[in-house]
Amino acid sequence: MTFVRVIARAGRAACGLPFLFWAVAACAQLAPDPASGIAPKRIAAGQRFMVAAAHPLAVDAGYEVLKRGGTAMDAAVAVQLVLGLVEPQSAGLGGGAFIVHYSAADKRVRTYDGRETAPASARPDRFTGAFGRPMGFIDSVLSGKSVGVPGALAVLELAHRNHGRLEWAGLAAPAIELAEKGFAISPRLHALLEWDKWLARDPFAARYLYDASGRPKPVGTTLRNPEYAATLREVAADGAQAFYRGAISTDLVAAVRNHPVGGGDLTVEDLASYQPKDRAPVCGPFREYRVCGMGPPSSGGIAVLQILGLLERLPKTDFAREPLQAVHYFAEAARLAYADRDRYVADPDFVDVPIAGLLAPTYLAERARLIAADRSLVRAQPGRPPGAQRTAFADGVTLDLPSTTHFSIVDAEGNAVALTASIEFVFGNHRFVRGFLLNNELTDFSFVAEEGGRPVANRVESRKRPRSSMSPTLVFDADGRLVLIVGSPGGHAIIHYVARVIVAALDWGMPLQQAVDAPHFGSRNGPTDLEAGTPVEGLRRRLEALGHPVRIVELASGVHAIQRVGDAWVGAADPRRDGAARGE
Ligand code: DON
Repeated sequence: MTFVRVIARAGRAACGLPFLFWAVAACAQLAPDPASGIAPKRIAAGQRFMVAAAHPLAVDAGYEVLKRGGTAMDAAVAVQLVLGLVEPQSAGLGGGAFIVHYSAADKRVRTYDGRETAPASARPDRFTGAFGRPMGFIDSVLSGKSVGVPGALAVLELAHRNHGRLEWAGLAAPAIELAEKGFAISPRLHALLEWDKWLARDPFAARYLYDASGRPKPVGTTLRNPEYAATLREVAADGAQAFYRGAISTDLVAAVRNHPVGGGDLTVEDLASYQPKDRAPVCGPFREYRVCGMGPPSSGGIAVLQILGLLERLPKTDFAREPLQAVHYFAEAARLAYADRDRYVADPDFVDVPIAGLLAPTYLAERARLIAADRSLVRAQPGRPPGAQRTAFADGVTLDLPSTTHFSIVDAEGNAVALTASIEFVFGNHRFVRGFLLNNELTDFSFVAEEGGRPVANRVESRKRPRSSMSPTLVFDADGRLVLIVGSPGGHAIIHYVARVIVAALDWGMPLQQAVDAPHFGSRNGPTDLEAGTPVEGLRRRLEALGHPVRIVELASGVHAIQRVGDAWVGAADPRRDGAARGE
């Protein structure tokens, strides 16, 4: 396919039929925001390299690195450090990340775990409140108890050591420059500041993000964060150890222990002993493709593969012609996947997760037989995959809160990065330290430690990593060529967004931007969720007639994806956020 046709195809994806509703929405969003001047270019095509991420300034930083011959991992470092500044609501140095990396030279996928860890002193009843009930939101999420040892910087450094080419020190330069010269408040950051009720209580946030009367600074206001620049200068000069040992770690620990809402128990030893992990990727087939993602402690890779594996064993759907059938089967497959996820998946250093059993063809076939064409399961039970422990675990109870970021990068040699990073809740723990926000990732542990005498796999334990839903994913075709790089924020619903975009791109034949823009739906083994304000709302009555307990909800994905089209790359950014794509 020629380059012009690639661009034309990408353009048609956003601005063409048959999805008129989405075409109008997608085209309209390409206009610059008048206040911030941000003109997200949500679709891009390139023959050599591509980056798609949640903020145009981060995309530009990645693009410049790729242009001067950096690898996808070099660009990933630059992109993440800029996002930590311009998208503070989502992720940053105070949080964690998962990286799925593809090395074109040795055709190898590697996955890196930079998930937060619980302090050594953490115990299973950490989030148990009065009368044995789960603790309330403020006492858990907004107190020092929720802060885990951040893993983002350590995992960036590890993956960069293995896959980087450019000097680590130079990769922080774009973020340092922006932090010192300033950047404009984006519409999304402003909207979240308007919505948030707690951040202004943090003294740094009050000065940085709010005006003298306590109102969020308007869209377009220039923000400068010299504290973040100073932190990055230390990290650029001395590497991640500047963060995990020394003055930054002392300040971080002091902020957690002296937390105004309730002191936490993090120690400098917890930070000094943090280890990012090189984990085995979780890969499996979907039709003629091979899909690779992040294994435990993320549930994302397994659940995405289970949904795809179940769909492959059901009648193939076409969303454009039979949306009811497409939504029904997808939601049912998701119910079964989430039932297993809640029962079996947790930190593999603590729990024997039956990964092979959960993805075994015989097991998937057995589970697919539970799905009927004409009625919903409503609530699926977890299965008994081969290799599941005899002492069965009980299902956990976790929160579901909005933030997180995902970006996708491919470099001129064909190396790729899918990276999803998080501080968990929007603005994380709502405390700034040295220019970045702390995470509340420990509230991704189950709030109940046992049920009916059986332990919950994802209960809190000393130095354990909380289970995640983050699903950075790579897809390869039958010839082993990388064809799709995808991921999203969205809490538990991340799994839906990623699986749905893969199905839309590969099964329904939608061009990438259309696949990203299309309405979301699914079920986390409770209600059947349909994305509010989209055409799938119209399926409500017919789904209810099949027994689906329907809920119309906002489903704010932030999919940033790249697809191979012929010999070129198309990048797409989600219209639900501020993101962009850029390549050449
Ligand atoms: O690791 C996880 O699954 C969550 N901490 C992610 C949170 C999230 O994506 C919120 N999203 N919008």
